[in-house]
Amino acid sequence: MVSVIGVGTWQFGGEWGQQFSQDEVDAILDKAKELGINLLDTAECYGDHLSESFIGSYLSRRNRDEWVVATKFGHHFHERFTRTDHWAAEDVVKQLDASLKALQTDYIDLYQFHSGPDAAFDNDELWTALDKQIQAGKVRHLGTSIGSNENLHQTEASTRVNSSAIQVVYNRLDRAPENQIFPSCVQQDLGVLARVPLASGYLSGKYKPGAVFDETDIRHRHNRESTLKKLQEVENIRHNEVPAGMDMAKWALAWCLKHPAVTTVIPGCKNPAQVEANASAAELISDNHPQAWKD
Ligand SMILES: NC(=O)c1ccc[n+]([C@@H]2O[C@H](COP(=O)([O-])OP(=O)(O)OC[C@H]3O[C@@H](n4cnc5c(N)ncnc54)[C@H](OP(=O)(O)O)[C@@H]3O)[C@@H](O)[C@H]2O)c1
Repeated sequence: MVSVIGVGTWQFGGEWGQQFSQDEVDAILDKAKELGINLLDTAECYGDHLSESFIGSYLSRRNRDEWVVATKFGHHFHERFTRTDHWAAEDVVKQLDASLKALQTDYIDLYQFHSGPDAAFDNDELWTALDKQIQAGKVRHLGTSIGSNENLHQTEASTRVNSSAIQVVYNRLDRAPENQIFPSCVQQDLGVLARVPLASGYLSGKYKPGAVFDETDIRHRHNRESTLKKLQEVENIRHNEVPAGMDMAKWALAWCLKHPAVTTVIPGCKNPAQVEANASAAELISDNHPQAWKD
């Protein structure tokens, strides 16, 4: 059972224009806990197991069992914005052990194939090795974080490979999963983690068309023209769809959760105030707030 709002922790790896301290991570996670959030999404390559290490230190001083920890496999981190792919079964098992060590835990709740190619996914040896990790108690559930949000091949194979959740890019600016991915998830009864639910922060409403990012921020590497178009679209959405006075990040997360296929959203958070704003999106999906939607 996961909270409808989780915390995405790519940010803790240092690729979003900010290096984190353990105290800052502790404050974010304590705020999440206080607000009823129990789901953390991390990965092997958010820094070299760095995001996992921050979480691991935190969990070692709190109650591990109160959290659902999702991490991923398939890459080695080298330096900021540089990783290489490593999908061989034996390498993945080594990555799993490194993740367990960094997370200071003896089990991972959800272990996800991290946006790899179909050729890597279609390797039965990999899934057999992962099944053995479940038998050994190191992994509770397998998941697939699809790279393209139209990857029906990997989505449809979920049940066959014993992967019980799909992580997919889904937000008000990118609705592609509604066409084929979500129907397949519903048909197979898969959990769905909507990632990048704020469109990398563009849907927070705080950036205007023409916004420029520091080169230590991943958004510096986004295509400028496409960012401009997204930010112009955000202006339209704010004008036409978001009720006056409503925090747009809150609205954007609730918008994702309105889709019945979506189990949870995992916005990346950089401070406790963002966690608080994001958690408040849950209020809008209760029956008491029909006025949140203009459509
Ligand atoms: N391949 C994969 O599996 C994959 C790929 C991408 C992401 N993910 C996972 O999905 C998570 C979420 O995606 P994401 O972090 O890329 O994008 P996102 O959640 O759409 O955007 C995160 C950014 O939005 C801003 N933000 C967050 N809450 C806010 C609020 N309440 N008000 C204003 N701004 C707010 C923050 O940046 P600023 O404050 O600097 O604007 C934050 O860094 C990641 O952390 C990661 O765990 C997985």
